[in-house]
Amino acid sequence: MRKIRKAVIPAAGFGTRFLPATKVLPKELLPIVDRPVIQLVIEEAVQSGIEEVILVSNPGKRQIVEHFESSPSLEAFLDSKGKQDLLEELRQLTSLVRVKSVEQKVPLGLGHAVLCAKEAVGEEPFAVLLPDDITSGSEPCLGQLLSSYEEIPNDAATVALYHVPLDQIHRYGVIEGSVVSENLYQVERIVEKPSPEKAPSLFAVMGRYILPSQIFSILEEAQPGVGGEIQLTDGLAKLAQQRKLYGYCFEGTWYDVGSKLGFLQANVALGLRRSDVGPELRSFLNSFLLRS
Ligand code: G1P
Repeated sequence: MRKIRKAVIPAAGFGTRFLPATKVLPKELLPIVDRPVIQLVIEEAVQSGIEEVILVSNPGKRQIVEHFESSPSLEAFLDSKGKQDLLEELRQLTSLVRVKSVEQKVPLGLGHAVLCAKEAVGEEPFAVLLPDDITSGSEPCLGQLLSSYEEIPNDAATVALYHVPLDQIHRYGVIEGSVVSENLYQVERIVEKPSPEKAPSLFAVMGRYILPSQIFSILEEAQPGVGGEIQLTDGLAKLAQQRKLYGYCFEGTWYDVGSKLGFLQANVALGLRRSDVGPELRSFLNSFLLRS
């Protein structure tokens, strides 16, 4: 069994789609109810067996790392007020997983952000989770992807896929593939942000990847692609020529919280499932929709 121990989480972007909220606050700390999106993504990684998270950040986003560090004054305050539940929750957060931080000094694109983790990853296969993507399902998305990884040849790469409507396809990496087994495709072609006319399918890459360390030498040679950025998708297209690339269709729900609508949808959907606010949120939504 090939154990995947490390996960890279690129979190160095400026979050321009959420300005002005993200002028000071990193977009990865925007909350879904009361949990920052990055915490949900790291919890998914930990539930899937990841032992070390490599956060690719920039010097202005120190708060993300601080979120996972202990805060003695806050803990002492909660203790003095007898708020043991919150204290316990904060302590669990700091002991969740080892978080190592590396810097992406210049925002040159997702492929470049992953390349910044080269030294920290070393020569083993690793996972990538994009913090713009929140997932929910009976099994964590990365866990499902890791199970599918067991079925594929050594040194191949695999990405999680999700079926999206044609009018949204231009936002994503999109694959063309042939069926290998239930939910598993061999990728023949992968393109970044195609127009609806040029999209090879409706299977979008949803921000969860398992990659061999050979991706780093490919990314070192990569030229700017869509948007003038070094694209991870272009690196994957190269990788697919050298060794096999697979796509696994995620069973669950994907929220693209990098879009405003996806962010609101995630807050409503995950809020409805909460025992503290869910029932009242449901009755509010029902009466609100009746009135409007
Ligand atoms: C990135 C990837 C894209 C992928 C998407 C998933 O795009 O480049 O291939 O489909 O994440 O969210 P971005 O959202 O950074 O534009």
